[in-house]
Amino acid sequence: RAQGDPAITELQPWMQQLGEGVDARPYGMPSPHEAHVKRRSVEWLTADPVSSVNFTPLHDLDGIITPNGLCFERHHAGIAEVDPAQHRLMINGLVDYELVFTMEDLARFPRHNKVYFLECAANSGMEWRGAQLNGCQFTHGMIHNVMYTGVMLRDVLATAGVQTAGKWILPEGADASGMTRSIPMDKALDDCMIATHMNGERLRPEQGYPIRLVVPGWEGNMWVKWLRRIEVGDQPWHHREETSKYTDLLADGAARRFTWAMDAKSVITNPSPQAPLTHGAGPTVLTGVAWSGRGSIPRVDVTIDGGKNWHQARMDGPSFDKSMHRFYFDFDWDGKPMLLQSRAHDSTGYVQPTKNQLRQVRGENSIYHNNGIQTWAVDARGEAENVEIG
Ligand code: MTE
Ligand code: CO
Repeated sequence: RAQGDPAITELQPWMQQLGEGVDARPYGMPSPHEAHVKRRSVEWLTADPVSSVNFTPLHDLDGIITPNGLCFERHHAGIAEVDPAQHRLMINGLVDYELVFTMEDLARFPRHNKVYFLECAANSGMEWRGAQLNGCQFTHGMIHNVMYTGVMLRDVLATAGVQTAGKWILPEGADASGMTRSIPMDKALDDCMIATHMNGERLRPEQGYPIRLVVPGWEGNMWVKWLRRIEVGDQPWHHREETSKYTDLLADGAARRFTWAMDAKSVITNPSPQAPLTHGAGPTVLTGVAWSGRGSIPRVDVTIDGGKNWHQARMDGPSFDKSMHRFYFDFDWDGKPMLLQSRAHDSTGYVQPTKNQLRQVRGENSIYHNNGIQTWAVDARGEAENVEIG
């Protein structure tokens, strides 16, 4: 088969000259052939790029870790360019000692490493009333999964001495949005972190440099970036981001308060609308990601015929609580149209619902917490499209 293929019979330019030396790229970048791999936004979604969102290109990635430069961004007032020498973390309210920490002070607490997903509550929010956006980048790309290095929030709070009446915390960001959220003390003392690093390097400015709050398994809005203050109080504050926003409007017009945890969810990333099958019938690798804010993902089921037959996918790669998981389904494609779906099971026994099951409970008014099963219709050419089936 390889006979006469110029890619093997002819000398390529890169075989005939020396390459660039070691210091040509002191902070490396991907190959120029990968220039299409990037965060993308949806133009009509928001009026202004400063209070907006872009999306992780899930269809271009593999494994479970999101590279730092591809982590989706959600800013309510743009990217704060913080000088760490002028940045402080203050703890105030119902504590024995109101304290102010420099970034050097924080580096003297014991450090921990954890892999967690961050999913915006509005991920898949545009899909509530039917299939809308053509690509898993746009339907599911408000998520990233990185390894955080940081200090435990409980260790920092302990130095301030939380008073018995202190049952809630209010983290506040240093950006112009004045982002605040009420978080119950139990969660704060359980697994919340103040992160300084992502995937080994310092946080990127887009992700909250020099420090961000990590609230494992809970909606992304609570992960306050450019963290500057934590107030301890005896009740929730009911600020903007937990009243007019990030509440789930139900069919009867009532809004559900405090939906913190992200339920189990999955999506097939390949093939998908931005990543068609180009090789025709025969051996085919289907892959995707799954995650749960309540634990790990021991199992994902996949169907290629719209749910008539389900197959257990092969989980591969590390399995951590509240982290993304990678699944594969390796099969022989007969070249006929397919209806692809994936269904995640989490370690609590919860099974990802269909979109219609979700609508029966939640109606169609909501934007947030849509974890319904996604369907891609693949035609005989291998092109995929976002659809919904009964
Ligand atoms: N923190 C501050 N200070 N300002 C913000 O605009 N956006 C929130 C949260 N923390 C935000 C913030 C929202 S809605 C989400 S989904 C996550 O950060 C997004 O994190 P990312 O930009 O790292 O993807
Ligand atoms: Co968000």
